[in-house]
Amino acid sequence: MKLLVTGGAGFIGGNFAHMMVNSHPEDETVVLDALTYAGNLETLSPIMDRPNFRFVKGDITDRDFIDDLFAKEHFDIVVNFAAESHVDRSIEDPGIFLKTNILGVQTLMDACRKYGIQRYHQVSTDEVYGDLPLDRPDLLFHEDTPIHTSSPYSASKASADLLVNAYHRTFGLPVTISRCSNNYGPYHFPEKLIPLVISRALADESIPVYGEGANVRDWLYVTDHCSAIDLIIRNGRDGEVYNIGGHNEVSNLEVVKTILRVLNKPESLIHFVKDRPGHDLRYAMDPTKIETELGWKPEYRFESGIRKTIEWYLSNRDWWEHIVSGEYQNYYAKMYKDRQ
Ligand code: NAD
Ligand code: TYD
Repeated sequence: MKLLVTGGAGFIGGNFAHMMVNSHPEDETVVLDALTYAGNLETLSPIMDRPNFRFVKGDITDRDFIDDLFAKEHFDIVVNFAAESHVDRSIEDPGIFLKTNILGVQTLMDACRKYGIQRYHQVSTDEVYGDLPLDRPDLLFHEDTPIHTSSPYSASKASADLLVNAYHRTFGLPVTISRCSNNYGPYHFPEKLIPLVISRALADESIPVYGEGANVRDWLYVTDHCSAIDLIIRNGRDGEVYNIGGHNEVSNLEVVKTILRVLNKPESLIHFVKDRPGHDLRYAMDPTKIETELGWKPEYRFESGIRKTIEWYLSNRDWWEHIVSGEYQNYYAKMYKDRQ
């Protein structure tokens, strides 16, 4: 089989490409990525020279390019990770989120229709369901929970999900959608909470916690997300949505304190800063469907996954020190200057 993995130079797509190349040597994996600020070829260097792997630079919103690529390659499966993915950036500048996350999906699906495909898989997010109250631990997101978005990022992802369902219903395109909770692990860009805290704590820099740090996320180690997608693209039912999560709800403050404890850094580094506008309170997934239908089980709990992640950042300093010493400095100064 020939797989197209879009956004494969990013965090989750990169981990997924590693998994495909290593655990499915019989398949050919092609990564397509525009190499935006979030894409990094160093993430792919461990697999770059493997015979069952290729990298192509390109933009999923570029119709002529996508058409040529599909005409040449005849992919069997497309897994779309390519996206603008950071909520705070979507609040600063929504336009690029709508372009990549919605029109890019349309462009990919049009090529799938034209050249034929066994499966188009859309990597979506729990954020399309909006948020849950902090004082109702009994409530979880199910696949039929109504879509109810808060940020331009989540609205763009929800729009894409609706479009994917429309292409299935109207054109009979074979599709699946997965909605996963927050991921963490190797190759995570340090604008997101966990790698930001690890990199700043190691430099003894202040850790910005939005509001009171009470917001809750349902953290999943990235390879557990990747193994879920692997099951869905091979055995998932056409037209279905699958929620992915491992029942690892942790408040932001507890995430930060855990990292500081493991790194033996003082809690005095914590700085409570102005809250994110529209900040979702709590995400929590019910993964019963993927567990019972496809036999998926996560390998890591938060306690083991966070230690493995910290170890990775300690032994792969080159990967993230390049990032935080470059343009990222300007990003940090701009995004955090009004929060103090
Ligand atoms: P990321 O920002 O690390 O990576 C995104 C990748 O897409 C980058 O390599 C970037 O260069 C590429 N890209 C951006 N625009 C492109 C375009 N127009 N054409 C081609 N490539 C383009 O994101 P991530 O955290 O790895 O997320 C991947 C997917 O998973 C996204 O669709 C996101 O919505 C979804 N998701 C993420 C999480 C999470 O916790 N990170 C959770 C659930 C779902
Ligand atoms: P983030 O990693 O941006 O993921 P998402 O917004 O998609 O859940 O943020 C995770 C949580 O951490 C979220 O509640 C916002 C909070 N947060 C901070 O408190 N400080 C920060 O500097 C960042 C980036 C996030």
